[in-house]
Amino acid sequence: MAYILGVDIGTSGTKTVLFSEDGKAQASSTHEYPLYTPQNGYAEQNAEDWWHAVTESIRDVLAESSVNPADIKGIGLSGQMHGLVMLDADNKVIRKSIIWCDQRTANEVDELNEKVGHDKLIEITANPAITGFTAAKILWVKNNEPENYEKCRHILLPKDYIRFMLTGEYATEVSDASGMQLLDIPKRDWSDEVLQKLSIDKALLAKVYESPDITGEVTAKAAALTGLKAGTPVVGGAGDNAAAAIGTGVVEDGKAFTTIGSSGVVFAHTSKISIDKGGRVHTFCCAVPGAWHVMGVTQSAGLSLKWFRDNMCWGEMETALLMGVDPYYLTDKAADKVPIGANGLLYLPYLNGERTPHLDPNARGVFFGLSAMHKKKELIRAVMEGVAYSMRDCAEVMREMGISVNDMMACGGGGTSPLWRQMLADLYACPVKTTLNKEGPALGVALLAAVGTGIYKSVPEACNAVIKPERIQEPIAENVPKYNKVYSLYKRLYPAMKGMFAELAEL
Ligand code: XUL
Repeated sequence: MAYILGVDIGTSGTKTVLFSEDGKAQASSTHEYPLYTPQNGYAEQNAEDWWHAVTESIRDVLAESSVNPADIKGIGLSGQMHGLVMLDADNKVIRKSIIWCDQRTANEVDELNEKVGHDKLIEITANPAITGFTAAKILWVKNNEPENYEKCRHILLPKDYIRFMLTGEYATEVSDASGMQLLDIPKRDWSDEVLQKLSIDKALLAKVYESPDITGEVTAKAAALTGLKAGTPVVGGAGDNAAAAIGTGVVEDGKAFTTIGSSGVVFAHTSKISIDKGGRVHTFCCAVPGAWHVMGVTQSAGLSLKWFRDNMCWGEMETALLMGVDPYYLTDKAADKVPIGANGLLYLPYLNGERTPHLDPNARGVFFGLSAMHKKKELIRAVMEGVAYSMRDCAEVMREMGISVNDMMACGGGGTSPLWRQMLADLYACPVKTTLNKEGPALGVALLAAVGTGIYKSVPEACNAVIKPERIQEPIAENVPKYNKVYSLYKRLYPAMKGMFAELAEL
């Protein structure tokens, strides 16, 4: 039997899963690491923490499964997108990675618009200038830490730093590179024009591959640290969302998925490039060679509930520990006792600014309508609903673009909550499905490894062989108008507060 390994370098932790070639998980291990918020709107992580989590989790799955490392035919890497990792001439990490949800780059977004031009940026990179994307982060380091920029010889994305540690290669692939805002998205390669206008030396960037391509092999040093066999191929892999698409079988037109992970994403596959001129949703290359996807992003989806759990639910966390259940099982139960609309409480999930549809780094979280009657359960329900309304915002933009969002999968940690899935089904007014395969991005990139090493001929063939649909939640007819009523109020809150968010940012 052949095996394939998927490693997903997420924001809260790295999850490594070892699969047999037919996609059955043999062993899984997750190692967490901290997120640093040194200032309001900043978000950083230590690249060394990711590497430590990767080596530990690979060792764990090898020990747990007793699979012979020589039978692992390929490795796929997935990860949080957009993060900036800078290496010096000795390949040492220069500073903490500024990650996807960091919002410090408002000035650099202006700079991008001035130097490249708003319309040109959309034409080439398929997206307007965005604070979270890597180009703005590179300019920020150039402008604010010139001594660090001077030292920089290589710029890598989070999972590509792990690839470098595993294989010694400076390589990336089209789906993750799309989120750097330096890639010509229609041409699927670096844009010389954007790089020149921003005075970023192309030699700093990694070589671009398609996602199933082999990019390198595990070195003897990495083999000694992880227990893998030296020479094991590592394929391009994919950014976490493009990887989740493969892991849920969203590889054809008409298919879409919603992830509630740290961020929330509504993702639709498209074989023809389609760009929102308003820049409210992203268009990226997808992990299926020659295809693209359109994606709306809510910055703080699962992160909103995690923030609430960590700061307000200590009792639930202790009880969960005693009961041997996930604390989110208890928050779900509490929210389920509250009716739609959370007894008059709404939540805007903009803890780290927002992308779709507002593109506003200054937006912040809001509880609207708090009353003395509200208990913790209403707050939990409001947080979950607020995230679901924000996902509906994403789906609305796609519908306006004529992209089908009627075949919807749910994934990510939040996608395991039946209550959250029902909210989505009721708000999208379409069935929301899950798959038997729960490993999402890790499975997606393991399948890319299976394609790259010849186990399957193509990505759709691998998905057809492995991905099995499971539960389908239909919209509940009487819920739909109730949610629509609250959503209509939700939609009017941000425009009413937009100016005040800007003022708040100045305080
Ligand atoms: C996508 C995005 C997030 C991160 C973290 O554009 O910023 O999905 O990849 O998960």
